[in-house]
Amino acid sequence: DGGKKIKIRSAIGSRDQQVRVSGWVHRLRSQKGLIFIILRDGTGYLQVVLGGDCAKTYDALTLTLESTIEVVGTIKALPEGKSAPDNHELAADWWRCIGKAPGGDEAFLNRVAEGTEMSKLADSRHLVIRGETASSVLKVRAAVLRAFRAEFDALGLLEVTPPCMVQTQVEGGSTLFKFDYYGQEAYLTQSSQLYLETCLPSLGDVFCVQESFRAEKSHTRRHLSEYTHLEAELGFLTFEDLLAHLEQIICGTLERVLADPASASMIKQLNPDFAFPSRPFRRMDYKEAIKWLNEHSILTDEGKEHVVGDDIAEAAERRMTDALNVPIFLTGFPREIKSFYMKRVPGDEHFTESVDVLMPGVGEIVGGSMRMSDPDELLQAYKNEGIDAKPYHWYTDQRKYGTCEHGGYGLGVERFLAWLTNRYTVREASLYPRWTGRCTP
Ligand code: 4AD
Ligand code: MG
Repeated sequence: DGGKKIKIRSAIGSRDQQVRVSGWVHRLRSQKGLIFIILRDGTGYLQVVLGGDCAKTYDALTLTLESTIEVVGTIKALPEGKSAPDNHELAADWWRCIGKAPGGDEAFLNRVAEGTEMSKLADSRHLVIRGETASSVLKVRAAVLRAFRAEFDALGLLEVTPPCMVQTQVEGGSTLFKFDYYGQEAYLTQSSQLYLETCLPSLGDVFCVQESFRAEKSHTRRHLSEYTHLEAELGFLTFEDLLAHLEQIICGTLERVLADPASASMIKQLNPDFAFPSRPFRRMDYKEAIKWLNEHSILTDEGKEHVVGDDIAEAAERRMTDALNVPIFLTGFPREIKSFYMKRVPGDEHFTESVDVLMPGVGEIVGGSMRMSDPDELLQAYKNEGIDAKPYHWYTDQRKYGTCEHGGYGLGVERFLAWLTNRYTVREASLYPRWTGRCTP
């Protein structure tokens, strides 16, 4: 008995007091009759020392990594130069084992899993997330979502929650997940954009943080079947306004994340070379990019020179972005390779008022555009794409009741995090990633 119950996060603030702490044995070593434990409770890491009788019990002698324990003792600051987290230590007066882990098979844990096969890591994701790297990424993810919401709030956008079950496609039929909805065909949403657009007359500028689903067929470093999609829609703005807003939301969010010392230090650990984007972002027109790729002998996936009209494939896009090594606004894509709703460049109808934000190491993290505001133009666009206009009646309809110039974008949260925390794949930025063929754990 005794000892104030605390989380490890408040250990330093409880110095020289008797406290009670519970958690998982993250590291374990014995030395001269003492047992040193690094205890983890999700809020932090704390060195615990079992000495004297505390170190002599059966449980102490057979303790294993990942067992749960409860400890009562006094928190002490250590002399400089010790390797304990935050230079503090809990000297146990009493402790007990709550749940014993089997020990032995430590290989599945992230901290010793360098080189472990991807599928094994994925199967053991529930244990991998206990590791320092995986849990840091997830903590940075929480900080990033918090900061995005704060920045949106500061910019006057309201959060809404659109549906996940829908009957309209946004980004092409080939990546739709279909399911039976009481006998009707329905889909898991690819993007909440169409719904966000309908909110402008009702709620003003809006954003959402919503799962999007894409039945992507290929394995890549940056495609998930389910990802967290941060989308925003703004009214009465120009394409230039949209780009300025994008720069602000990205940089404003980063500033907020880095202003938190815990997040800043995790990012430093995960991505020592992180460079804050300098403003204004580099701008590159699509046609300029095609030229750049050819000048630098970067070919298409088929091994050909790029021509205007080509989609820029992931590999080429990444090589260009890595070479330039700064965030890029890639603008003005041809309409054939983009979605039906995009506004055409006035006077150059072959191209769209569209933008991708490209980041070094990842490539595209944002896709956005101005939208067609004229209902007749939209009806023609459905036709061009072979889309049945009927399920879109509400999307078309709103343009008859007071239309306005508007635009928006979607940002892939896992891609943003892969860039910020320097992860090789977006899978590492997702709690339980889903990709081609994997829907477990
Ligand atoms: O470029 P996309 O397809 O654009 C849209 O969905 C628009 N309707 C968004 C809008 O304007 N409101 O997707 C937007 C972003 C991409 O830039 C990428 O970061 C991410 O969503 N994304 C994916 N992330 C992980 N896995 C996938 N399969 C993704 N597909 C898109
Ligand atoms: Mg895109």
